[in-house]
Parts: sequence; structure tokens; C-alpha cells
Amino acid sequence: MELLTPSELPRPAEAIIDALNQAVAETAVTTMLAQNFHWNVTGMAFGPLHDLFQKIYEDHFDAQDDLAERIKAIGGHAEGTLAGMIKRSKIEEHNGHASDSEMIKKMLDAQETVAHTLIGACDIAADCNDKLTEDLCIGRAREHQKFAWMLKSHIS
Ligand SMILES: [Fe+2]
Repeated sequence: MELLTPSELPRPAEAIIDALNQAVAETAVTTMLAQNFHWNVTGMAFGPLHDLFQKIYEDHFDAQDDLAERIKAIGGHAEGTLAGMIKRSKIEEHNGHASDSEMIKKMLDAQETVAHTLIGACDIAADCNDKLTEDLCIGRAREHQKFAWMLKSHIS
């Protein structure tokens, strides 16, 4: 099947843009969450957790950009305000006062939520025959599931 150029995408592209904006928002909130935990984590596993949270926020920072630029490439508006992102995101901010295991659980939950949002976006893109957005969302969901596995391995 041939690939459609952005201008040839059918109108449900609005649904893709909405789903991508949710993915950007949740990726951004999780970036802040990871940096927050990178700073505030304590306990005997400080070193590896400090490093893992850094890996997560570095990965997510680039991912926000890739997802937002895909929105632009298909003709949408990328939500660029923190307030707007917090409103769209199913993941909430955290005050950073938590034990190391609570932080791991909170971050695990965030990773699974973003993966779920991306898989939903992937299905919408597939319905619209937008294979390139589908591919981006599959790749991102895979990264979030990898981080979820790494986090889960600390507590099981
Ligand atoms: Fe640092």
C-alpha cells in the first residue's frame, strides 16, 4: 500500500493530532517527574535510581520533540504550554516527597500510562493509513515498556 503525504491525509487526522498531543503532554509530565525523582530520590539504591531516572528524562526530552514535530508535519498545532499539557495528561505531577519504592511505583505507572496512550494513537493512525505516525508511536510505546520492565525489576 502506498504511503500518503501529509496533505493527502484524510480529515480524521484531527483525531491523530489530538492523540499525539496527549502523548506529548504525558511524555512531558513524565520527563519532569523523572527529573524530580532524579533529584529527590534517597536510600541505599540512590546511585542506580538517580542514573535510571536521568536515562528516562533524557529519553523523554527527545521524544517530546519527535512527537510534537510529527504533529507539525501532518499539519496540526503542537500544544506548547505546561498548563495545557498538565490538563491533557492522565499522569499527574508529584511533590517529590516519597520513598524510593514509591517513586519506582509512580514512575512505573507513568510509563505504562504513556505506553497505553501511544498504542491508542497508533491504532488511530492505522485507521487513517498514516503509517509513519503509526511507526513513531510503536517505537515510543516500545521504549516506555522497556522502562516499565526496568522499573518493575527493582521491586519484584
Ligand atoms: Fe543530574
